[in-house]
Formats: sequence, structure tokens, C-alpha cells
Amino acid sequence: MSMEKIAAKALRTTTVAWFVALMAGLWAFGMYIVGLYGVGAVTGRWDRWNVMLPKGHGYTPGDVSGNLALGVHLLMATFVTFMAALQLIPDIRTRAPGFHRWNGRVFVAVAYAIAGSGVFIAFTRGAVAGVYMAIGNTLNAVLLTACATQALRLAMARRFEAHRRWALRTFVLMLGVFFYRLGMMLWFTAHGGPVGHTKAFDGPFDIFLAFAHVLLPLAVLELYLLARERGGPWAALAMAGVMAVAALATAAGGVLAVVGLWLPSL
Ligand code: HEM
Repeated sequence: MSMEKIAAKALRTTTVAWFVALMAGLWAFGMYIVGLYGVGAVTGRWDRWNVMLPKGHGYTPGDVSGNLALGVHLLMATFVTFMAALQLIPDIRTRAPGFHRWNGRVFVAVAYAIAGSGVFIAFTRGAVAGVYMAIGNTLNAVLLTACATQALRLAMARRFEAHRRWALRTFVLMLGVFFYRLGMMLWFTAHGGPVGHTKAFDGPFDIFLAFAHVLLPLAVLELYLLARERGGPWAALAMAGVMAVAALATAAGGVLAVVGLWLPSL
């Protein structure tokens, strides 16, 4: 096998491994959202909305608009965790293009609604994870809506190569808050405690993660696109190494979030 083929295969294999770990983590996150908030809403046990979120941030009697915004946010989050990744599976795109188009339209509407409700909550109820995270959240929301608009515009113009790049950017931005949870669990576990974290979320690690959960996945994606589209075999091999690390981190972060964050709240 030629060097080019080996490198391309390594990149494909590690990217698929990352994607599988990502989907497993997203489904686990989705089951947590349905199990905690969905079950709470359906059975009228609104106290379940206050298990993870602090007082005044979950179900708050009298705050109709805040509760509604959180409800919409969580409903949209359920779509994201179970449906968003299906957009990236090539077999679905080629065999069920109608599904891809409709799921894509819903994805863009969800991007607007989840970013809008998230920013509304952050600004009306106060920053639950500190001022830096509120800035990071807002940056995430602005970039997410801009990229989603661009992805939709390019698909409608039938410029599919450019659409694919912008859709991938939209996808990683959509999952910024998911990466935030994984990053925090990985860091705390690796350091045996909340090193660099304060109650006000203004420790060095808090500030780093407030921006890294948005910008780091985006930077990795840009490197991936460069390696695939313009790089030679060495660039593809180096990128395969990055994706292998990302796959391991996503798998480990997902397991840690399930065990340490989501299961105990159910
Ligand atoms: C730019 C997009 C987003 C912004 C700005 C945002 C913002 C927020 C904020 C501020 C809260 C805290 C609520 C409070 O303070 O009362 C929150 C909660 C939450 N968000 Fe988002 N969010 C975004 C995207 C997402 C996505 C894509 C998901 C799911 C994949 C998600 C899932 C959740 C969940 C489950 C909670 C409740 C807390 C928990 O149980 O972990 N969010 N979000």
C-alpha cells in the first residue's frame, strides 16, 4: 500500500472512531436530558429541573418566560443529542437525501432557537457558570447562528462543497457545550480535583475552558479540512494522530460525564 493510501486510511479510521465515541456520548447526554427534565415535565415533578441547575436557574415559579425559554432550550437539546450527528453519516446523505434536507432545515432552526434561548437565559437569569462562560456562551451563540445561516444559504445555492465545510463548522459549534462538560470531567479527573476552578468560575482553567470549548474544536476542524483538502500524506498522518487523541478524549470524557455527572442526577 502506498504512503498516501496508508495515511488516508489512518485519517478515515481515527475520524470514524471519534465519531462513534461522539455519538455514544451524545446519546448518553440525550438520555440524561429526557430522563431528568423530560420525565420531570411529563410527570409534573418540576423539582427535577432543579437537581442540576442552582436555585433560580431551573424551574422557577412565577418566571413564565424563563421557564419557557429553558423548556424550549431543553427540547431543542434533545433534538441535537439524538438527531444532529445523523447529518454527518455519508450513507444517510446519499441514500436518504430527502431526510438529510429536512433534518438539515430543522437543524438550522434548532441552532437559532437553542442559541437564542441560551443567551436569553444567561442574560435574564444571570451567569450560572460565571462571567467568562457567559461571554463564551455568547460567542458560541453568535458563531453558531452565523455558520448555520451560511450552511443553509450554500445548500440552497447548491454549492455543496462549501456547504459541507460550513455545515461541519455549525456542527462543532453546536456541540461546544457538550465538549465543555467532557473537558471539565477530563480535567478534574486527571488532576484529582477542581484544580484551576473557583466557585465564581473565574479560575485559570475556568477562563481557558470558557473560550476553548468553542474555539478548540473549531481549530481542530480547520486543521482537519486543511489536511484533507490540501495536505500531503504526512499532514494526513499527523491529523490522524490528532483525531486518535480526540477519539480517546471523547470516549473517556463521555464515560466520566455519565458516571460522575449524569447518572447521579437521575
Ligand atoms: C450557543 C448555544 C447555547 C447556549 C448559549 C446555551 C446556554 C445555556 C445556559 C446559559 C444554560 C444555563 C441555564 C440557567 O442558567 O438557568 C444552559 C443549560 C443547559 N443547556 Fe445550553 N446552551 C447552548 C446550547 C446547548 C446545546 C447544543 C445543548 C445540548 C446539546 C444544551 C444543553 C443544555 C442543558 C441540558 C442545560 C441544563 C443544564 C444541565 O442539566 O446540564 N445547550 N444552556
